[in-house]
Amino acid sequence: MTITNAEELAGLQAIGRIVADTMQGMARAMEPGMTTRELDGIGRRLLEAAGARSAPEVTYGFPGATCISVGEEIAHGIPGDRVLAAGELVNIDVSAEKGGYFADTGASFALGTVRPEVARLARDGKRAMELGVAQVRPGRALADIGNAVGRFASKRGYSLIRNLASHGVGRKLHEYPEEIPTWPNRDRRRIHRGLVMTVEPFLSLGGRFAVADRDGWTLRAAPRALAVQYEHTVVATDQGPLVVTRPSRG
Ligand code: CO
Ligand code: CO
Repeated sequence: MTITNAEELAGLQAIGRIVADTMQGMARAMEPGMTTRELDGIGRRLLEAAGARSAPEVTYGFPGATCISVGEEIAHGIPGDRVLAAGELVNIDVSAEKGGYFADTGASFALGTVRPEVARLARDGKRAMELGVAQVRPGRALADIGNAVGRFASKRGYSLIRNLASHGVGRKLHEYPEEIPTWPNRDRRRIHRGLVMTVEPFLSLGGRFAVADRDGWTLRAAPRALAVQYEHTVVATDQGPLVVTRPSRG
C-alpha cells in the first residue's frame, strides 16, 4: 500500500507493533524441549490478545498462526511435533492483520549456544537486512536494496537465496510491488513516497535457492546449507525509511 495520511500510518504502526511484540514474545518463551506447535500456540495467543489475525492463515490457509523454521528449514515451516534443541537456529516469521492493515516481520534466533560460524551468520544476516532497509527512500530504485545486500554478502563470503523475495504489504500480506529482489539485480521499478514494503534478505552459508519440502510448505536451501532471514515492514518517507515492526521493548 501507499501511506497517504496519518490514520493509515497509525493503523499500519499498530499492527507492526503487534507482530514485532508477538515475535519477541515467542523468542523469549522458546526453550529446548518445547515443540514448534507449543511455540506457535504462544504466538497465536499473543496475536489474539492484541485483536489481530494470523495473515498466512487467513490469506493462504497456512496450517499454523506463525511460520517456525528450524535448522536447515529456512522458511514457511509448519508448527508441529518437532522438538526444539539447544544449538539450533530457529526462524520465527509473524505476519498478521488488524483493522484491515497487514504487517510482516521475521528473525532467526540461536537457541542456546550455536557454532561460531552460525553466530556470525546470524549477526551478519541482521546487518544485511539493515543495509537493505536503509535504501528504502522515495526516488530510489528497488534494485538498490538487493545491490546493497549483495555487496555486503559477497564481501563477507555469504550466498543469498535468490528465489525468496521481499514484497509490498499493508492492505494485503503480499501486494504491489511483488517480488522485490534482495540479491544483485537490475529491477527498474522505483520506490515512491509512502510505499510500504518488506525487506527480508536470506543470507546463507552456501544455499542459493529455496526448494519446497514434500509437505508443500516448508522451504530448504539448495545446495543444502543453513540460512538466516531477518524481516522488517518499512515505509518510504522523505525523512528516510520508517520501520514499523520494531518491538516495544528489547
Ligand atoms: Co514474513
Ligand atoms: Co514477508
